[in-house]
Amino acid sequence: MIFKQILLDDVGRNFAYIIGDETTRDVAVIDPGYNVEKILQQVQQLDANVKYIINTHSHGDHTSGNGRLKEKTRAKIVAHAESPRQKDIVVKDQDSLQLGKLNIRVIHTPGHTPDGICLLVDNKIITGDTLFVGECGRTDLAGSSAEDMYHSLFDKILTLDDSIEVYPGHNYGNRPSSTIGHERKTNYTLEKRTLEEFIEFMSEP
Ligand SMILES: [Fe+2]
Repeated sequence: MIFKQILLDDVGRNFAYIIGDETTRDVAVIDPGYNVEKILQQVQQLDANVKYIINTHSHGDHTSGNGRLKEKTRAKIVAHAESPRQKDIVVKDQDSLQLGKLNIRVIHTPGHTPDGICLLVDNKIITGDTLFVGECGRTDLAGSSAEDMYHSLFDKILTLDDSIEVYPGHNYGNRPSSTIGHERKTNYTLEKRTLEEFIEFMSEP
């Protein structure tokens, strides 16, 4: 499997990802925010064909490179049905995308935004702005919902096996990736709370 984590900038600390099939060299680029040139360089080094551009959600720092990357690669833009961005393929919870032998499973995880998705590939999950290392996504923005975030985190993400590796949308933690098990034990936003307690917790500064 091809799997590359790319730090796009030092300010927003955004991560883009290139994932794909090692044999066919077909890949998807996840969250091309800024710095599309850096992504294209990596694509070239990998001798890869970009088939999909997937947005974990519609915020500009995860999508602003969509147009340029599409122009360069002719890849199809994939986003959740709720995304207001221009897209070629609309996905919903539990949909799958195929790249050679690699299967990408879409998990709809609203909360930070209504169109948030996580992508499960092999033993890894790309979590966008839903789950970070040691943190979870903000829910105080336009379109955010702490209640949705609760269900996304506790009813979806935390039902995954502890061994699954976590790859977030920003480098906000003390390391660039983690595991479900490590986050379950150490991430203060994932401590056991009722829905009401969680909503209260997320409303605190
Ligand atoms: Fe975001």
